[in-house]
Amino acid sequence: MHTILVTNPKGGAGKTTLATNLAAWLAGRRQKVGLQDLDRQQSATQWLKRRPELFPTITRVTRDEDRNALRGLELDWLVVDSPAGLHGEELRDAVRRADLLLVPVAPSAFDIDVTRDFLALIAEYKAVRKGELPVGLVGNRIDARTLSAQELEEFLAASGFPLVAHLRDAQAYVHCARDGISVFELPRSRAEQDWDQWRPLTRWISRQLKH
Ligand SMILES: Nc1ncnc2c1ncn2[C@@H]1O[C@H](COP(=O)(O)OP(=O)(O)O)[C@@H](O)[C@H]1O
Ligand SMILES: [Mg+2]
Repeated sequence: MHTILVTNPKGGAGKTTLATNLAAWLAGRRQKVGLQDLDRQQSATQWLKRRPELFPTITRVTRDEDRNALRGLELDWLVVDSPAGLHGEELRDAVRRADLLLVPVAPSAFDIDVTRDFLALIAEYKAVRKGELPVGLVGNRIDARTLSAQELEEFLAASGFPLVAHLRDAQAYVHCARDGISVFELPRSRAEQDWDQWRPLTRWISRQLKH
């Protein structure tokens, strides 16, 4: 089982959006996927409850599922959505269980400030320093024409971690959140641009976890 932790202490960065869409992408590839929601607000869990029955199955993994129960689920992937403000021992614990970290970052000075401190902290982790735990940054809600997108780009490029995807600011994500689906389950005419934007991200994940 590969565990992907989606995390950034800033609320609204796009953690739940990234986690739910990624879980659905994997499920659509006939993978057995669990979604674990560490956030008390339970947005990912609510999304899962709204998920139409006929769509590829994603298994809900509760916050305190023990190792044995988890093993019993025989998942190929566990996608973990985390709360804003995750820090200290809880953050360390979530990171310890992960094979890969995804950090969504939105284009604003507030997001950049919080993310800068967070990445500095993450960079100190032994597994990250030794290159054993890949960390991928995802620019989220990007409108390439804006100055804030450019500023985010510059910040992320200098961060020392790879920027693995840019996701646009699109109502499709908002509608998917409401309907328990992902952009991969929208008609091509509505989401082709999003599929294209996700490709570098899913390819990067496959490459990191191959060896
Ligand atoms: N790329 C995007 N385009 C449009 N809306 C987005 C996008 N990403 C997130 N959102 C919306 O922004 C809000 C915050 O995103 P969310 O994923 O809940 O962030 P977090 O889990 O980090 O707090 C949600 O209403 C979500 O639907
Ligand atoms: Mg969330």
